[in-house]
Amino acid sequence: MDIKKAMFERNSVRRYTDEPLSQSHVELINSEIERVNTQSGLRFSLVTNEPEAFTGKMASYGHFSGCTDYIVCIGQKHRDEDIGYFGERLVLFCQSIGVNSCWVALTYSKGKVKYTLNKGEKFYIVISLGYGIHQGRPHKNKPLEDLCGCKGEMPEWFKGAMAGALTAPTAMNQQKFYFELVDKNKVKAKALFGPYSKMDLGIVKYHFELGSDGYSFEWV
Ligand SMILES: Cc1cc2nc3c(=O)[nH]c(=O)nc-3n(C[C@H](O)[C@H](O)[C@H](O)COP(=O)(O)O)c2cc1C
Repeated sequence: MDIKKAMFERNSVRRYTDEPLSQSHVELINSEIERVNTQSGLRFSLVTNEPEAFTGKMASYGHFSGCTDYIVCIGQKHRDEDIGYFGERLVLFCQSIGVNSCWVALTYSKGKVKYTLNKGEKFYIVISLGYGIHQGRPHKNKPLEDLCGCKGEMPEWFKGAMAGALTAPTAMNQQKFYFELVDKNKVKAKALFGPYSKMDLGIVKYHFELGSDGYSFEWV
């Protein structure tokens, strides 16, 4: 499946079958992680067959079942936006090969995750992976005019890019972002105030780029 199609089809999945990730999926995901780490200087890593992190009892929001595989997202401090951007590249890659996922900042047991930090590094977040017992549900969106703006009529490429941005996962589906077309091909993207909104911005920018279908614009 191509990545743009994966973007439109993906929803967060928190309930997984007991089937562990197949060996071929593990290899594909590890190769993609290697490419992303080389390009980004971040340190994503795949943990498999680890049942502890997602077994705690949570309230109904954020409750997981059957999750034993996940990606740990580590990087130098102040790289929240990059963690979002490159992590979402991994999320959509996984979706494209048939692996479901969910970004998880809070509703898991961080203490059960084994990891080491090098000097200056921060543990940001995890991404649960697995084969969903369902494919999740599309989230609700804020009205488009609350999320973006431009002078005059909105160009078609910008509408397409925003259609991509609207599908992006954000913390508690808060959609704390704003895109502004400031010139013919210059886009200003802002994180608004809210938890994890900087990480969300990276996720949403990745979706915006995919939605723009290669239209030549500049981030400003
Ligand atoms: C940065 C971030 C943190 C998140 N943290 C959690 C979490 O702790 N627990 C959870 O169940 N979902 C978490 N989510 C998933 C969001 O609730 C979900 O992406 C959002 O409701 C939109 O749904 P969708 O991903 O299906 O489009 C998080 C998402 C993001 C982007």
